Amino acid sequence: MKQEIPLLKVENLLKEFSVVKGFWAKKARIKAVNNISFSIDEGEAVGLVGESGCGKTTTGRMLVKLLEPTAGKIFFSGEDISNLKGSKLKTIRREIQMVFQDPFSSLNPRMTVYDILKRPLEIFKVAKGSDEKKQIALEILQDVGLKPEHLTRYPHEFSGGQRQRIAIARALILKPRFIVLDEPTSALDVSVQAQILNLLKNLRKEHSLTYLLISHDLSVVRFLANRIMVMYMGKLVEVASTSELFREPLHPYTRLLMGSIPNPNPRHRKKLKMIEGDIPSLLNPPPGCFFAPRCPLKTSECDKAFPELREVKEGHLAACFKI
Ligand SMILES: Nc1ncnc2c1ncn2[C@@H]1O[C@H](COP(=O)(O)OP(=O)(O)OP(=O)(O)O)[C@@H](O)[C@H]1O
Ligand SMILES: [Mg+2]
Repeated sequence: MKQEIPLLKVENLLKEFSVVKGFWAKKARIKAVNNISFSIDEGEAVGLVGESGCGKTTTGRMLVKLLEPTAGKIFFSGEDISNLKGSKLKTIRREIQMVFQDPFSSLNPRMTVYDILKRPLEIFKVAKGSDEKKQIALEILQDVGLKPEHLTRYPHEFSGGQRQRIAIARALILKPRFIVLDEPTSALDVSVQAQILNLLKNLRKEHSLTYLLISHDLSVVRFLANRIMVMYMGKLVEVASTSELFREPLHPYTRLLMGSIPNPNPRHRKKLKMIEGDIPSLLNPPPGCFFAPRCPLKTSECDKAFPELREVKEGHLAACFKI
């Protein structure tokens, strides 16, 4: 039995969006994140994988408090942060940071690297004088593999990989404990993806960080994460340690995804292979298991209810009636 309080705990998290549907532009609600529960221990790196549109970014944005959940609870270090406002929210923002997919749009083109880095220090009144601010900025720049002379340059003067290093430095400068990495390498040239992944791996060790790594690329998650959560249409369908998941994927969706692991040679990498069968729409989800219309193991039972995520083996959870 684990005794310690997890760093992050999520209970029945739900996010609905209003969308416009069809020719008559009728309003409808979709469940982008559909009642998910999980926890992440301090020091873990947990991967969140699934196809485009399954709710990964929406989940990440709720965890960093950029998006209000429709329902459910988020606990950070045991404290309920679901409805925090004002100064308490500000304190939490310091501890939880996010790195976005696209370093071309996430950095303000009018600000120098120093302006970008010192802004969080000013907002949170971390450093006393300008010397101290500069010192902190220089240290973090070195940590992410950039040089002191980069401080006075603008984002457009950098390559994609270097820009992502700046975005990582900005996320780290307040010494957060938890970082959501949303597809941190997918906008980058394949040749620099491995460098950024190595950097993230080393930073986690050096700064004792906890990660939630969002990716549609199983090889990225395998490299960086110790545990993996598989998401399908807003639901978690399988959770296991990385080694266990690759040794014995249990959910038919995970197994199908595994058949599409990109080639280790980055030049031959492909996006996730399309899985056969109709992808049901979030606007009109199937009555039972959302994966049933595409599932090779489907029986009539699967049309009746969505299977609960349950512990099938120690530490290995899956949501499927057929396992
Ligand atoms: N602000 C919004 N308003 C309406 N619908 C939204 C909004 N944000 C996301 N969605 C919808 O919610 C679902 C989940 O989107 P999300 O961006 O979380 O997916 P994702 O797994 O991150 O996908 P990708 O791999 O393409 O980044 C999608 O159907 C998306 O269209
Ligand atoms: Mg996304």
